[in-house]
Amino acid sequence: MHDSSSIESVLHEQRVFQPPSANTAGAPRWLIGSIDEYRAMHRRSIDDPEGFWGEIARAFHWSTPFSRVVDWNPPDARWFIGGRTNLCFNCVDRQVDSGHGDDPALIWEGEPIDGEPEIRRLSYRDLQAQTSRLANALRAMGVAKGDVVTIYMGMVPELAVAVLACARMGAAHSVIFGGFSAQAIVDRVIDADSRVIITCDGAWRRGQVVPLKDNVDAACDQLSKQGHAVSHVLVCRRIGGDVAWTTGRDHDLAQVANDASPDCPCEPMDSEDLAFLLYTSGSTGKPKGIRHTTGGYMVHTALTSRYVFNLIPDAGQVFWCTADVGWITGHSYIIYGILPSRVPTVMYEGAPNHPQPDRFWDIVARHRVTQFYTAPTAIRAFMKWGAEHPGRHDLSSLQVLGTVGEPINPEAWMWYHTHIGGQRCPIVDTWWQTETGGHMITPLPGATPTKPGSCTLPFFGIDAAILNERGQEQPRNTGGLLAIRRPWPSILRGVHGDRERFIQTYFSRFPGSDGKPPTVDSPSPFYFTGDGARQDQDGYFWIMGRVDDVINVSGHRLGTMEVESALVSHPAVVEAAVVGMPHEIKGTGVAAFCTLEPGHAPPDEPAAKALRAALREHVAREIGAIAKPDSIRFTDALPKTRSGKIMRRLLRSLAAGEEKITQDTTTLEDFSVLARLKESEEG
Ligand code: WTA
Repeated sequence: MHDSSSIESVLHEQRVFQPPSANTAGAPRWLIGSIDEYRAMHRRSIDDPEGFWGEIARAFHWSTPFSRVVDWNPPDARWFIGGRTNLCFNCVDRQVDSGHGDDPALIWEGEPIDGEPEIRRLSYRDLQAQTSRLANALRAMGVAKGDVVTIYMGMVPELAVAVLACARMGAAHSVIFGGFSAQAIVDRVIDADSRVIITCDGAWRRGQVVPLKDNVDAACDQLSKQGHAVSHVLVCRRIGGDVAWTTGRDHDLAQVANDASPDCPCEPMDSEDLAFLLYTSGSTGKPKGIRHTTGGYMVHTALTSRYVFNLIPDAGQVFWCTADVGWITGHSYIIYGILPSRVPTVMYEGAPNHPQPDRFWDIVARHRVTQFYTAPTAIRAFMKWGAEHPGRHDLSSLQVLGTVGEPINPEAWMWYHTHIGGQRCPIVDTWWQTETGGHMITPLPGATPTKPGSCTLPFFGIDAAILNERGQEQPRNTGGLLAIRRPWPSILRGVHGDRERFIQTYFSRFPGSDGKPPTVDSPSPFYFTGDGARQDQDGYFWIMGRVDDVINVSGHRLGTMEVESALVSHPAVVEAAVVGMPHEIKGTGVAAFCTLEPGHAPPDEPAAKALRAALREHVAREIGAIAKPDSIRFTDALPKTRSGKIMRRLLRSLAAGEEKITQDTTTLEDFSVLARLKESEEG
């Protein structure tokens, strides 16, 4: 899909589902109750962004009010200029100050250890005390405003506390998904120049222990060899029992927090102060540290939470997003967007099918969850496990269903609608990215007619368009590149430590209004998403997937380059090419083609099988289990163009098992490579 002119849509979904009408018995009150109301508000947000966003932002707490709403000097956006605020204050203290301190803020459900559900409820007051204690403990360890604290934990309440404690004292956090390897920690800690790590002794996953502290220890050893000293490691005890301990460096999280004062005022932060870094895959090189700042991120995530999920305080709602806090979805829609809305947020530690495939529905029923937000890959897994599992539970509390992370296929959408939503709940298919911070294109549940597979229409303030390479708008029903033509409050503010990569990746795709190609000194005014898409006759957006070398595996972005580097770092592999391939559950699977060192060629199939297993383990060690190739083929050469570029299009067709290669192969250097590759299929 590299050439946008060749983007052709094969989806021809015609079904339209009207939003529930306002007077349906038992239906919630819809904050935006008609498509006309949506359109009027969207129009105002585009015609008068300063008025629109200024009004919204003033409803938050600012210790110093902002003097201007937005300043846009591509690629640099600044929002709520001159304002000072604090994310933790708006999530937590504000609710305490308004008399809601004892309301439930966070409902945590542990992975069942002895069969009995383990539940912890934290009120806003609890969060206030716990974030204060931890913030004070971090200060005592020398963490100052602006420092980056690395967080590598399982899904325990202390993770939410750690994130908010950083915000409280003005440190930026860098959360690393607990499924990543020690090597991934090393790369991110160095890039962020982080000196403090908060972790757990381990995490429960399907009854097994993920050795988080061991991984941190291995990372710290590696880091000190590279001259980077981690001064403090705070360890939350989740598993119990012994873990290796480095005296002076390691601290028991509960103990240091207990010893600290529960009184810590929130640090006033400039609206443009760094809030956090979150690393995400790109098409080249190492993961990029996406920079998000304070004021704009706060306003955008809270506003989208409210309208997209229809959050209403004091109406008995319970919100559950099943993502891990290690991803942007968890940052924005477990913590930062939801807490200011004063609706309790559920956090679940474990897997969807442990101990039984009905685990999620059991949680929905027991906690009377009203909004449920998950990923298409999970829905496809539920489909496979069977409708009898949700069928056993009372899901009548549900009001709104959401999906995120990858395009949802219409079959999965219909199954979700029927078996989870009881044909009653609107589905919000939310398109957005780590870089966008919050929702960008999405239905509003009480307003937008939905079409299975389409993320529908842009959110307030979002000016989305399908452009060709020259930056011209494509006609309806013609594929092209998805671009955003003006900044929104939670747009990324940069790639940490790499201004050029920031501009190259996001602001160099389209020419400016003068028609001149963009340069680093004169970037494009349009943000490029990396996605291909089309708009249908009604203006609805249909996302077709990435147009760069990023693959979306189970809704998680992986750069093919990262997996290739991991493979070639194994002694047996000379060269590797990685492409996406269709996968029933994951949406996209990882297909690897490897050429081997002469001495390592497996002599027979059992040996090939063993080498494949070894390579999978190797990739898991280098990156994490999510990057393990689903298929590995050995070959004596990779198909290349005369200029030496690997022909990925061709490999994609091969990986997809396409019988006839219809693509242009005239530039293929060696035709016999293709024939041999076809024979190399995994046995
Ligand atoms: C894809 C996740 C279709 C898309 C929040 C995007 C989607 C990438 C959708 C960002 C959706 C996300 N429909 N595709 N509703 N949501 N994507 O940074 O390719 O992990 O560019 O952010 O996921 O992935 P990321």
